[in-house]
Amino acid sequence: MLGLLKQQSVSRVSTLVRAFGTNRNKCFLKCYDTDHDIRTFILDNTEIVGGQNLTPEIKLRLFTPNCRFWHARPELWPFPDPFWAIYWPGGQALTRYLLDNPRVSRGKRVLDLGSGCGASAIAAKLCGAAHVVANDIDTVATIAIQMNCALNAVEPLTCITDNMIGSELADYDLILLGDMFYEEDLADRLHSWLDHCIKTHGTQVLIGDPGRAPLEGHRIKKLLRQLAQFELNESVREENYGLTCSTVWYYSPEL
Ligand SMILES: C[S@@+](CC[C@H](N)C(=O)[O-])C[C@H]1O[C@@H](n2cnc3c(N)ncnc32)[C@H](O)[C@@H]1O
Repeated sequence: MLGLLKQQSVSRVSTLVRAFGTNRNKCFLKCYDTDHDIRTFILDNTEIVGGQNLTPEIKLRLFTPNCRFWHARPELWPFPDPFWAIYWPGGQALTRYLLDNPRVSRGKRVLDLGSGCGASAIAAKLCGAAHVVANDIDTVATIAIQMNCALNAVEPLTCITDNMIGSELADYDLILLGDMFYEEDLADRLHSWLDHCIKTHGTQVLIGDPGRAPLEGHRIKKLLRQLAQFELNESVREENYGLTCSTVWYYSPEL
């Protein structure tokens, strides 16, 4: 299932959303009504990956070609879109940057917005962040994140499933956004909210992005300063047609 989607175009995230979006709230969900059930499902349907990406030192439970749902029909998938089962190129670059530059997150109160598999949040914790919150509107993602914490001997992170975009954030020093600029409307909402967070609370913002159109064409792009750029591994390129590298940006609006 996922292999087919990736062949079609994993770089266009909307394709993935449409394909999986048909399954939302199907009756399958009643089979997975406890966290334990969901954990068991994740254990059965993912594989531990510790390489083939930019941060081999972090282990993650992800979809691979060895997993049943990589090939299975999308309508059999029982949950919302499994973004958490993919380690996105934007998140890979951001996580690599954090691990290479531990001072960036050390001692900070960090929010990883749209955390997915949780790699960037885990990296911030490993680097000595004072407090890390992994935020994702997908509750299945938050269970996957805790499982990935355990894989990396990281204490369970605080996970929040509320939509925090637009909320007043006084309690964070650093916001991380890995591959979050994949839709124009989302890019607009992030832009005005991040602008407010920086100007009102002095929050720092780091963005990892592999050159997706909603960021490339957005007015926020003029306010980004490049911190690092990473070549994507061959397997990641194959799964993300047209993408060869991923960049870490520092958002620095004019104050
Ligand atoms: C493309 S994935 C990126 C995941 C991860 N940061 C990475 O780079 O591997 C986008 C993630 O954002 C989450 N998401 C989408 N809208 C969100 C919102 N308003 N607040 C929090 N998470 C959101 C999705 O559920 C998904 O897990």
